Amino acid sequence: MADSLHISAGEYTGDLPISEGTIRATGLSAVPTDRGPLTSYDPGFVNTAACRSAITYIDGEAGILEHRGYPIEELAEHSTFLEVAHLLIKGELPTGPELEEWNYQANRHRLVHENVYEIIQAFRYDAHPMAKLMASVASLMTFYPSSRRISDPATRELNAFRLLGKMPTLAAAAFRHSIGRHFVYPSDELGYVENFLAMLFQSQQRVWRADPRLVRALEVLFILHADHEQNCSTTAVRTVASSGNDLYTSCGAGIGALFGPLHGGANEAVLKMLREIGSLDRVPEFIEGVKNGKGRLMGFGHRVYKNYDPRAKVLKKAADDVFEVRGTNPLLDIAVELEKIALNDEYFVSRKLYPNVDFYSGLIYEALSFPSEMFTVLFAVPRTAGWIAHWQEQLTDPDQRIIRPKQIYTGHERRPYVPLDQR
Ligand code: ACO
Repeated sequence: MADSLHISAGEYTGDLPISEGTIRATGLSAVPTDRGPLTSYDPGFVNTAACRSAITYIDGEAGILEHRGYPIEELAEHSTFLEVAHLLIKGELPTGPELEEWNYQANRHRLVHENVYEIIQAFRYDAHPMAKLMASVASLMTFYPSSRRISDPATRELNAFRLLGKMPTLAAAAFRHSIGRHFVYPSDELGYVENFLAMLFQSQQRVWRADPRLVRALEVLFILHADHEQNCSTTAVRTVASSGNDLYTSCGAGIGALFGPLHGGANEAVLKMLREIGSLDRVPEFIEGVKNGKGRLMGFGHRVYKNYDPRAKVLKKAADDVFEVRGTNPLLDIAVELEKIALNDEYFVSRKLYPNVDFYSGLIYEALSFPSEMFTVLFAVPRTAGWIAHWQEQLTDPDQRIIRPKQIYTGHERRPYVPLDQR
């Protein structure tokens, strides 16, 4: 394969280097034109590499997802969420003593300042929990002003532990506020995921314990959602970090990006869609509607995967485990039927539209007793591990600068100001 690209543009003719790596990239800015360097027009950055990253590798055609070289299937089978967080943030799987220290540090930062609870209390009872999560995460910067010292590695690490530890606490508080229940403090007796479930669902019991199979299912979901390279929310985190921002401000922006129905909000949209379809016999009619431009088949299609999303495969198995404990859900039958029809339909096959991670996750969350507004929150908690890893990589990469794309201006030419009475 060529390692340079021959290019002629106006007066310029030359060979641009193509760098080695998982994506081959050239430097168009080296090519002059009469209006500045040659620029690519790439809405949605579909074919633009904005950074070098050593965290996550995806081959969308082959349906491969690896973190620091480890396949997602193996991590989901053998690992824990906090161990995967270590892998993403520190670059390697921890040794036994390292993992013990890592878990201790992440768990010891689970408490939040009482004023943070008051911020959540200030929301209306029916406020979406993602808004409460976004506001409370962004507010943490004001409780830890030293977090702005982003060039200090020890400060970065301390605040990484703080955020990793506090995310489940904030997510649970956002939920408890919605249902009018008192907040539950983190328990030193419980691990990261089990403690999260206790903070969500504990009522009067002194020690609340979940079925271990459900704890493991949520742990697997957390592992599957921990990182996915330069997705919309991670790009938002990197963009906000690029202007010199602390972790909390950057991740607040990431939570906003994740909230959108085309990104993390899709699992909520899948459940809504399944409910609207309502019964198995209405599936063919729904599919025809999608093909005729009446909405999208939510939970299908992906910017990167042009094959079955490897996370969706693992999720299907996790769904079986959860339904074994909790009993089946008629919406699952509709989902399975939709998948069966879509995977054999020319419209979806020719566009390479396969189930993505959100297709089954909503059903699992529902079986775990979560209301649908919490689904994206359940995505944000583990994705924080990936955001931290990318925030750190962005800040320590000597190639990086403030993120500021170009535009192609299509507006009016220069014209004089028109006074109000003459318009
Ligand atoms: N249902 C029906 N048609 C679809 C779907 C879908 N879910 N997704 C894409 N298409 C069609 C488009 O209409 C388009 O068809 P056309 O070429 O005839 O115009 C073609 O497939 C390409 O679609 P794009 O929107 O250009 O693909 P893009 O890469 O920009 O979008 C996205 C990817 C946003 C994920 C899209 O597939 C989608 O909207 N899916 C549904 C929402 C969803 O499940 N999002 C979760 C993604 S995973 C995540 O964020 C964790």
